[in-house]
Amino acid sequence: MIRSVILGSGAAKPRNVVTNEMLAEKVDTTDEWIQQRTGIQQRYIAEQDETTASLGEAAARVALDDAGVTVDDIDMIILATSTPNNTFPATAVDIQQRLGMKHGAAFDMQAVCSGFVYAVTTADVYIKAGQAKRILVIGAETFSRILDWEDRTTCVLFGDGAGAIVLEAQEGVGLSNDRGILTSHLRSDGSHKEKLYVDGGPSTTQTVGHLRMQGKEVFKHAVAMITDVIEDAFSATGLSADDIDWFIPHQANRRIIDASAKKLKIASEKVVLTVNQHGNTSAASIPLAIDVARKDGRLKEGDLVLLEAMGGGFTWGAVLVRW
Ligand code: ACO
Repeated sequence: MIRSVILGSGAAKPRNVVTNEMLAEKVDTTDEWIQQRTGIQQRYIAEQDETTASLGEAAARVALDDAGVTVDDIDMIILATSTPNNTFPATAVDIQQRLGMKHGAAFDMQAVCSGFVYAVTTADVYIKAGQAKRILVIGAETFSRILDWEDRTTCVLFGDGAGAIVLEAQEGVGLSNDRGILTSHLRSDGSHKEKLYVDGGPSTTQTVGHLRMQGKEVFKHAVAMITDVIEDAFSATGLSADDIDWFIPHQANRRIIDASAKKLKIASEKVVLTVNQHGNTSAASIPLAIDVARKDGRLKEGDLVLLEAMGGGFTWGAVLVRW
């Protein structure tokens, strides 16, 4: 059977680091409050010349290099983002043009913090259907542009950045020791849309709007939704928490990550944690964390990796992949 194998990965961060202490000079908050509630110590904030497209392009270039392919080898670009450069065209086509790619197709995917999991799942379906041989999947965000910097309950939580992977169709035998994506599971429930949303848009206010969140409500649902969909991934493959080498969750909040790992009985040393360094970068958080685990030598070929995310909508999902 065809498997979507990860050939390479890359990431790009804005130049500007903002620590909690630096934030506390402008916002009525403290390093202690932010760290206790979220685990965040710092985040990267894009300067004016750094956009979702430029960060996405930079991450894509590193991933292509790492994969040992060029843009000529890519059939499709899928960009997960909720902070596009423009309402349209899709920022994916901007990145396509920046990379000098004139063939194939590029499109954006919008599932907020779950965007990367949605994009990887979509790429896997195209590859398994034989419609693409290699797909560049990018998660890129400039959430700082949609934050209300007067709202301390949200503005301290998010950051900017981008990450990317290259997926390639390879033959597998259909067993769980195959390399590539073994299973993926997506969910959404729009009845929660008021709990985490942006209060603007072209069809309603004709403005970009700002992020609004009922933090306690999000927290209340997060662990149950995350663990549910991971259990689905385990049931589909016969694998269990013991088989996992690395758990790379969406990096929203350390407490959510710790509680999810505990409920699933995933040992804490298997959890890749980057929320302290990056804050919540929405669709970019998983590929940014992948990059950290690759660079520090933790993530190696053959490792079984569990990706998971939950975000606005609500949307949520999980992917089991053998590196
Ligand atoms: N600095 C200092 N004090 C603050 C801040 C701040 N940045 N923000 C709020 N406070 C104050 C509040 O005003 C309140 O004060 P009061 O008791 O005098 O009224 C107090 O801190 C407690 O506020 P709560 O909102 O009750 O804080 P809570 O303990 O719920 O923590 C938080 C807030 C961190 C947002 C938490 O609800 C949470 O982690 N929710 C999950 C949300 C999340 O991670 N979302 C990410 C996007 S979704 C996703 O990616 C999964």
